[in-house]
Amino acid sequence: MYRSHTCGELNISNIGSEVTLSGWVQRIRNLGGMTFVDLRDRYGITQLVFNMDANADLCLRARELGREYVVSVRGKVCERSNKNPKMPTGEIEIEVERLDLLNTSELPPFTIEDETDGGDELRMKYRYLDLRRGALQKNLYLRHRMASEVRFYLNSMDFMEVETPFLIKSTPEGARDYVVPSRLNPGEFYALPQSPQMFKQLLMISGYDKYYQIVKCFRDEDLRADRQPEFTQVDCEMSFVEQEDLLKTFEGLTKHLFMKLKGHEFSGPFPCTPYRQAIDSYGTDKPDIRFGMKIREITPAVKGEGFAIFDNAEYIGGICVRQGASFTRKETDQLTSFVKKPQIGAKGLVYVKFKEDGSVSSSVDKFFGEEKLKSLMDQFNAGTGDMLLILAGERRKTLKALGELRLEVAGRLGLRKDGEFAPLWVVDFPLLEWDDETQRYYSMHHPFTSPKDEDIPLLDTDPGNVRANAYDLVINGVEIGGGSVRIHNSQLQQKMFEILGFTPRQAREQFGFFMDALRYGTPPHGGIAFGFDRWVALFGGSESIRDYIAFPKNNAGRDVMINTPSPISQEQLKELKIKVEK
Ligand code: AMO
Repeated sequence: MYRSHTCGELNISNIGSEVTLSGWVQRIRNLGGMTFVDLRDRYGITQLVFNMDANADLCLRARELGREYVVSVRGKVCERSNKNPKMPTGEIEIEVERLDLLNTSELPPFTIEDETDGGDELRMKYRYLDLRRGALQKNLYLRHRMASEVRFYLNSMDFMEVETPFLIKSTPEGARDYVVPSRLNPGEFYALPQSPQMFKQLLMISGYDKYYQIVKCFRDEDLRADRQPEFTQVDCEMSFVEQEDLLKTFEGLTKHLFMKLKGHEFSGPFPCTPYRQAIDSYGTDKPDIRFGMKIREITPAVKGEGFAIFDNAEYIGGICVRQGASFTRKETDQLTSFVKKPQIGAKGLVYVKFKEDGSVSSSVDKFFGEEKLKSLMDQFNAGTGDMLLILAGERRKTLKALGELRLEVAGRLGLRKDGEFAPLWVVDFPLLEWDDETQRYYSMHHPFTSPKDEDIPLLDTDPGNVRANAYDLVINGVEIGGGSVRIHNSQLQQKMFEILGFTPRQAREQFGFFMDALRYGTPPHGGIAFGFDRWVALFGGSESIRDYIAFPKNNAGRDVMINTPSPISQEQLKELKIKVEK
């Protein structure tokens, strides 16, 4: 028998028991006649003690052990004289009577402890060692528990988990596809799914009215902390539902997860904001509403007063920083540098401080009198001690920059608190967005999203203003999920493809099977997909989803452990009839 207990479960109630433990040697300390070994498995760490006087041979063998050796020990659970209250097993130790060396280990390239000395790249290369660390084991366990709770909840609501294929057809919409050559059909390729979107809709047509799948999706796009080339969705679809039903169901799932994993209960329904309002108030469609500091437009109030930057701007707006009047010159300079960064793109930052003594100081004193500046207080609900930060320029860009500034200031003021969760449904997304470069409309969500009934006439006259039955779930400024009510009428679907610039032939080629299917009694349906990695990271308290994926890719899309992507052999290429350009 390798083990009677794990390394995390013995405590004072087990004193006197004979036990067998197996695990990895984390640390060895030699203190005079005693040798202490910390034995680790995924459940915890237990201290082993070897006594020179009691068994010199055994003690000498223990001293020979190295870090990460795998051993099995038998011994008696004893009370420790030197207790460690920080460890669950900290009140006991095992007086070892028998030691079996199960395997040796090379010296690991970094310390396998929560606070490791290993850099990112090194830990990725030896991911299997990194995964031994308690911190990562905790993260993966959280992921496992969340997946179990997702399944538990959806199963209890009669949802059915159905697998959909990974080798599918490349479509030009959305991100770039990863493609897979077909040996049996030379010159032809499969694509890996960016999501199971069309398959889950086909399942609705097939009558599986409540579907879900915890599924891998693949997107060839630029990577960030919250983006991986292969990531996991909790993908869901339902039939005979309207938007309200969908939001209610998936809000239920969200609340269930919060309750089970964070012990957190929300009172009442999640707030809901139309897309336009989110952009106007927060400069983004994924607002962090853990704090206020909403953006206000002040264009009419300050334009045309002789300050060229405002006079030439399409839009002027700002945020009010409570107690911001006490910001130092250095702090406002830092904020100015922040908004001038290329990725933010503002030309400068105007501040107005309403000082405690009732006076006003600002960076635009030359152009605006004190009375004029004080008249802005009402619009921002500002009081003495507060500060306005104002940006001017093109409407969309300025709102976006204000949104970034809002987050930056909130970060500095500690308003984005860990452990506080502020979910928000963003609804009424535009159906389409115009792209200047290619001079055509793109779906904001995807081409299967239904327009609002009342906006359908605008499809012919003003497509850019058509609102969709689409929604995102945003928590703390992170887009956790997105979905929509779908088009279930084949003519309307056809029309969507036309608006998106497909000729009837192209639409047929790409989506013929799907348009055919829509003609065979398609029920009204809709759904959502949650970014599972993001959701786990949010619960775990980190922005990087990599920490919650067992074997992630780095920011260049590489797996440095297995060293891929990598060339394939000439024989493979030949078989696939593929020539690689140098
Ligand atoms: P969407 O493209 O919005 O919708 O994706 C759903 C959610 O998946 C997460 N996500 C990602 N997570 C990690 N890395 C990525 N590269 C990545 N891309 C997206 C986000 C996002 O909200 N088929 C539709 C859903 C539907 O309409 O039902 C879809 O895939 O959290």
